[in-house]
Amino acid sequence: MADPIRIGIVGASGYVGGEILRILVNHPKVSLAIATSKQYKDEVVYRVHPNLRSFTDLKFSEPKVDDLTSNCDFVFTAVPHGQAIRIVPSLLGTGLKIIDMSADYRLKDPVAYEHWYKFTHPQADLLQSTVFGIPEIYREEIKSAGFVANPGCMAITSILALAPFAKARIIDFEHIVVDAKIGSSGGGTKPTIGTHHAERYGVMRPYKPVDHRHTAEIEQELSKLAGEDVKISMTPHAMNMVRGILCTIHCFSEERLTVPQVWRLLRDFYPNSAFIRYVKDKKGMGRYPDPKILSGSNFCDIGFEIDERMNRLLLLSATDNLMKGAAGNGVQCMNLMLGLEEREGLEFPGLHPI
Ligand SMILES: NC(=O)c1ccc[n+]([C@@H]2O[C@H](COP(=O)([O-])OP(=O)(O)OC[C@H]3O[C@@H](n4cnc5c(N)ncnc54)[C@H](OP(=O)(O)O)[C@@H]3O)[C@@H](O)[C@H]2O)c1
Repeated sequence: MADPIRIGIVGASGYVGGEILRILVNHPKVSLAIATSKQYKDEVVYRVHPNLRSFTDLKFSEPKVDDLTSNCDFVFTAVPHGQAIRIVPSLLGTGLKIIDMSADYRLKDPVAYEHWYKFTHPQADLLQSTVFGIPEIYREEIKSAGFVANPGCMAITSILALAPFAKARIIDFEHIVVDAKIGSSGGGTKPTIGTHHAERYGVMRPYKPVDHRHTAEIEQELSKLAGEDVKISMTPHAMNMVRGILCTIHCFSEERLTVPQVWRLLRDFYPNSAFIRYVKDKKGMGRYPDPKILSGSNFCDIGFEIDERMNRLLLLSATDNLMKGAAGNGVQCMNLMLGLEEREGLEFPGLHPI
């Protein structure tokens, strides 16, 4: 049997890093070599991620380039945006394969970083060649990539629903409304006054109702598929849940869309995509995508309705923000980059009831 592939995770004390650890402790083809944390250096990983007790005795270590290059074959950087640009350049060209979970390499246009992230990108030349990590769209590119930028959680949830319709060019590209709902883990581990339990509990709170950063990557990817500029209007809401995203997406069409046509576009766009599920039943609780039953799983559930009166195509897409929205999708990309079966380590359903 081949030696396991050695994995390093920079930012392993965070929610995304912790979720990558959770998936990889049971992955048959890899071993966990390094989990970095400055705050928790020398502590066992399960002190911070107590769900991992008895699965690994790995200890956190400080992020050091030499340790990563000599002990790992593959590295995830799961650090806040603006931090990956300080780490990734020293790892590139060392033979390591890398997936960055932050926003630092997702956008192709360096000028876009000034507008959306308020920094001047120091490695603008890297942006064009970095592969955007959506396996359902860029499977072949990911297979041969050494460096992949994993998409944002609300971005991937929206893009997966909209991609077939952007490609088919059957919706109005100036009037697409993404109404996103997201759980508290989307904000990471660092507490703020707004995430304090007393303030966060029970909320349905819009935040960044215009100009949310994920708008940039959604527009970038849909424009590429459409071959022309696509604009979206996005408003996220913080919801009273820990995990999960539901995107309710309103699109309008000049043509009269039919249900069989929409089904066909979805199915033709996603052949052999085990993590895309279509959810559109006539009755029952699970008639439409529901992030609650996706908790811990790597699926993106997509549903739709046609509002004939308004020529509106209503798309509904749900993910677990830490899974298909982050770590699960990252591991799916990792599998492809390593020549492994795409679903390896990811084939489990969500919890029900939860
Ligand atoms: N949460 C989500 O749902 C989600 C979804 C998709 C993408 N993302 C993206 O994934 C990344 C991680 O998100 P998260 O939610 O896991 O954030 P988080 O909980 O705040 O964790 C970030 C981790 O990065 C480490 N870190 C911070 N600055 C660092 C530096 N300069 N060098 C090395 N390590 C550093 C921190 O660990 P120490 O301080 O202990 O070293 C921390 O544990 C972010 O870019 C986020 O936007 C998050």
